[in-house]
Amino acid sequence: MSIGKVRPAVQALAPYRPGKGAKQAEEEHGISDAIKLASNENPYQTPDAVVDAVTKASTGVNRYGDHRASELRAALARWIGVSTEQITVGCGSVGLLQQLGLVYIDPGDEVVFPWLSFEAYPVYAQVMGGVAVKVPLLNHSFDMKAVADLVTDKTKMILLATPNNPTGTAISTAQIETLMKAIPNNVIVVVDEAYKEFSNPSFGDPVTDLLPRYRNLVVTRTFSKAYGLAGLRIGYAITDPEIVNEIDKVLVPFSVNSAAQAGALAALESLDIIGENISRIMAERQRVIDSLTEQGWELPEAHANFVYIPLGDRTDEIHLDLEKQGVVTRPFSGEGIRVTIGSEAENTRFLTSLGSP
Ligand SMILES: Cc1ncc(COP(=O)(O)O)c(C=O)c1O
Repeated sequence: MSIGKVRPAVQALAPYRPGKGAKQAEEEHGISDAIKLASNENPYQTPDAVVDAVTKASTGVNRYGDHRASELRAALARWIGVSTEQITVGCGSVGLLQQLGLVYIDPGDEVVFPWLSFEAYPVYAQVMGGVAVKVPLLNHSFDMKAVADLVTDKTKMILLATPNNPTGTAISTAQIETLMKAIPNNVIVVVDEAYKEFSNPSFGDPVTDLLPRYRNLVVTRTFSKAYGLAGLRIGYAITDPEIVNEIDKVLVPFSVNSAAQAGALAALESLDIIGENISRIMAERQRVIDSLTEQGWELPEAHANFVYIPLGDRTDEIHLDLEKQGVVTRPFSGEGIRVTIGSEAENTRFLTSLGSP
């Protein structure tokens, strides 16, 4: 018997499983020198100016930070070219997704998203008592017509990760607009751009291409991936001021902490170094793709800081084999493995460990 009356929606959830750490793999397999390519982290050292800003902020942690993160909101607004009222920040972009669920999803409401996609989506739909409507992928990419077809009068929200996690495929703002035109304008469409900085600008920018015309659009982005601040937990959203006001009501007070705000502000001042790191990751991604293709692997297009190898029934076996060799990747049982682009040495290690199909 459980303690207290756990809500059935929570009881039904599996515990969150973060990407396995290298240390854990070492202990499990009795090996040393394992590397983690399982959580799409940035392999490069965070710029010194960011580390300095975080260190400086740590001297003031006896005080609460600025709950509204006013300076950061203003800096983001200036940088992106929108008004400050159109920006909000959250405890990682995953925090913003949770806030969106709290604001919009009542029991029985439908949340539509392509699947496979980010593992948090069904969790945040279900925890609110909502119904996760999963739209099968087409060639590892989004079937946008099928997404539109599954919207009903119960649909409250659509979640679109572009580039998608874990498949790495991306959609254009033109494709998103076709969907927006086909659905009622009271359905919230979330475009989750956690990996935007690694993708081709030719896919378009939903903030400039769509936001001026669609008030029901929410674009989420993060400092975790391209900016290398995963451990600080800070993401942001760009949307209509009315939506910002509602999301802000359910932000856990001060969860966007003072060190995270200082780090994010310093990152916006270090865009040259961050840009170089992004370029290095993209060059390494191309090297990994070329090498895998040469070895005979077939991959979907990779527009984020990882590659996805569809392995079907062989997924668990190949994942375990790599792990025993000290290369920790992220398996999606029965589907494929997702491998983060790491440092040059890490990527080479992965490539030699995987071998040919
Ligand atoms: C598609 C997608 N969205 C959002 C996130 C959340 O990132 P964070 O909460 O670190 O900003 C991730 C992280 O893996 C992701 O893959």
